[in-house]
Amino acid sequence: MDAQAKAPEAGALVVFGITGDLARKMTLQALYRLEARHELSSRVIGVAREDWSAEHLIEHARQSIEAAGEQIDEAVFKRFARRLSYLSGDFADPGTYRRLARALSGVASPLFYLEIPPSLFAGVVESLANAGLTKGARVAVEKPFGHDLASARELNASLHKHLAEEQILRVDHFLGKEPVLDIQYIRFANEILEPVWNREHVSCVQITMAEDFGVEDRGSFYDPVGALRDVVQNHLLQVLSLVAMDPPIGPGADDLRDKKAEIFRSMPDADPSQYVRGQYDGYLDVPGVAKGSSTETFTALRLEVDNWRWAGVPFFIRAGKALPTRVTEVRLVFRRAPRLRFTSGVNSCEPNQIVLRVDPDSGLRTVLTSRGNGRRAWEPVHLDMLFARELGPSLEPYERLLRDAMAGDSHLFTREDSVEETWRVVQPLLDQPPPVRQYAKGSWGPEEAGKLVRGYGEWHTPWLPGDDSDNKGGQDGGH
Ligand code: BG6
Repeated sequence: MDAQAKAPEAGALVVFGITGDLARKMTLQALYRLEARHELSSRVIGVAREDWSAEHLIEHARQSIEAAGEQIDEAVFKRFARRLSYLSGDFADPGTYRRLARALSGVASPLFYLEIPPSLFAGVVESLANAGLTKGARVAVEKPFGHDLASARELNASLHKHLAEEQILRVDHFLGKEPVLDIQYIRFANEILEPVWNREHVSCVQITMAEDFGVEDRGSFYDPVGALRDVVQNHLLQVLSLVAMDPPIGPGADDLRDKKAEIFRSMPDADPSQYVRGQYDGYLDVPGVAKGSSTETFTALRLEVDNWRWAGVPFFIRAGKALPTRVTEVRLVFRRAPRLRFTSGVNSCEPNQIVLRVDPDSGLRTVLTSRGNGRRAWEPVHLDMLFARELGPSLEPYERLLRDAMAGDSHLFTREDSVEETWRVVQPLLDQPPPVRQYAKGSWGPEEAGKLVRGYGEWHTPWLPGDDSDNKGGQDGGH
């Protein structure tokens, strides 16, 4: 199948692992919301080991949707419940797939959504193929996709034994976030922005993903993973590629994914001397965390994109748990304006900045400089835009991703080459990790992170919802 062409609408959605955490927290609610908007048209078959009945699944769905904060509309739920069925079976048992094949008889293009541990992906896909279920089907897989370059390649190879690349949808929920989708529009639909979006004008790019909670009850998942694998190799590098890429030359999924892949291919391997790892105090007491673990819960690093647009512009990324606040933003810090000769004593102003806040309360801020009215000659001023206020509420990431996966639209799913290139970029950091530094809960991570941005000012305090003060103290940023 040509990836530029749209694949057929899924005739059924089969969720492997429907009794699990992700379904409880995200999938069931997302499907219900699609139903409410009349955007769900297929049956939904849940498959899992638990000995549940369809009625049990329906009751579980109701509770999960309510617990996710949704006010249930009975008429919508009734429609949704009619679509749900359940098949109990062991993923390793060929009988499970024979029964699934019977349930799917007459369905031309099912979508299999694997919400199961990645170690089971290859086996489930092989069993689907043996049961004759992969022809015309698509398979969506949840993260993590590999834990390093070798394992990602291995996983790709084992999926490709039975599936063409166009049939595989690798889920990265960040790609379903409205402000992340907006990056292309902000950049390429605005003549006043695109011409300055390059090394001639930008001094550095800072991407921050801060979470104000710890690892909580996910110790045994998180400890073998750490911050770099959990959110940098996937979510934040995907965001980086959208910020850095050239405009796609057409509307197809591969037009977009080609441009993102070009960015990853032009990124040199990450340099371990430009990498800081931190672990919050108390992490070792989290249930499921190995004794004496040196897993990082904070990471800060410098990456480069070595092409004509970006050569010499560092991309700084920091991400961590137990930081002072929850916010994810991308900040372009521009070069400083020349000295203001028309006023005495002003050698340099704060550099202009464009901030895209991804979470929470997504928005766009432009930091400009204006005349000060007293304390000093100049002041940074902000032009702020909140997407929800301007454009109204948007879909939640999983609603969008499930809808697109069922519609056969691959734009928002990561392609094999990008996944492998992103692992290639971070692999030296996995091979030669610097020592992990302790940091206090509620701080911005270990001090060493500050040294990374030397020569480029400091890490800018993120733009927080309801906060209009963003660095108004006038810190030095950019060069
Ligand atoms: C997940 C990570 O992929 O993304 C979590 O495993 C992280 O550790 C989460 O908390 C953040 O996603 P969001 O959409 O809540 O910002």
